[in-house]
Amino acid sequence: MGGPEVAKVTPWGRARVSSNEEWGRFVKRIIILGVGGNCVDILDAIFEINEGSPAPRYECVGFLDDDPQTLGRKFAGVPVLGSLLKANEYPDCVFVNGIGSPENFWKKSEIIARTGVPDARFETIVHPTASVSRLAVLGPGCVVLQNATIASCARLGRHVIVLPNSIVSHDCTVGDFTCIAGGASISGGVVIGASCYLGANSAIKGNLRIGDGSLIGMGAVVLRDVSENTVVVGNPARRLRSTR
Ligand SMILES: CC(C)(COP(=O)(O)OP(=O)(O)OC[C@H]1O[C@@H](n2cnc3c(N)ncnc32)[C@H](O)[C@@H]1OP(=O)(O)O)[C@@H](O)C(=O)NCCC(=O)NCCS
Repeated sequence: MGGPEVAKVTPWGRARVSSNEEWGRFVKRIIILGVGGNCVDILDAIFEINEGSPAPRYECVGFLDDDPQTLGRKFAGVPVLGSLLKANEYPDCVFVNGIGSPENFWKKSEIIARTGVPDARFETIVHPTASVSRLAVLGPGCVVLQNATIASCARLGRHVIVLPNSIVSHDCTVGDFTCIAGGASISGGVVIGASCYLGANSAIKGNLRIGDGSLIGMGAVVLRDVSENTVVVGNPARRLRSTR
């Protein structure tokens, strides 16, 4: 879980500013890591945050991705600037990561570390339609997309992504680098380890523990603790294989 850099989400609407010029001073230049679907969804969330603020909060500078075939391409008008290593060429920018899929989720921490960008320069992006309790705590680099709910006293570590329509219920703990796919429903008091992947529409019974590096398959109904580095599927969820 996150250390001293864990930051409380503050609704921007509460900032006291008196003019558009004053808002202009808050504009941050942001770069998105990756170009996959989640990355474009993050861009979309940034557009919505800008739209809902008195003046733009972010200027989206571009994407970084290690696939050379994406270089120079544009997604929603925003260019791919080069590989992840280019991050150090943008010292004035903040970052957010969208990389992390069922195929590579356990490598997310090392992918982010490769950029050399410290957590303090990662933004926490919350789509305006998401509901984040004032009593929840989100670490640096977290992303919460459309209509997701983060309930009271939930704690999300660093670089956790919560995809649309998911529910992280009260008192849950979600470890660093974990991905929660669309429609997942995590009941109260669940403890999810670091670098996990919860598949779309999976459901976790209250107060269970999911070990580090585990994947919960699409639609799985988890009724027992899951050990680390384990893939489980079905209803009730059963072990399919190891993560690696
Ligand atoms: C669990 C998962 C990783 C398994 O992938 P895999 O290792 O390639 O497994 P396979 O597709 O070879 O399937 C192996 C067996 O598990 C079963 N299986 C796979 N995924 C399953 C699932 N989600 N629920 C139930 N059974 C599943 C298959 O039917 C197959 O059974 P069989 O051997 O009796 O034929 C994958 O199916 C999955 O659910 N990924 C998550 C996807 C997701 O949520 N994406 C969200 C994107 S936003």
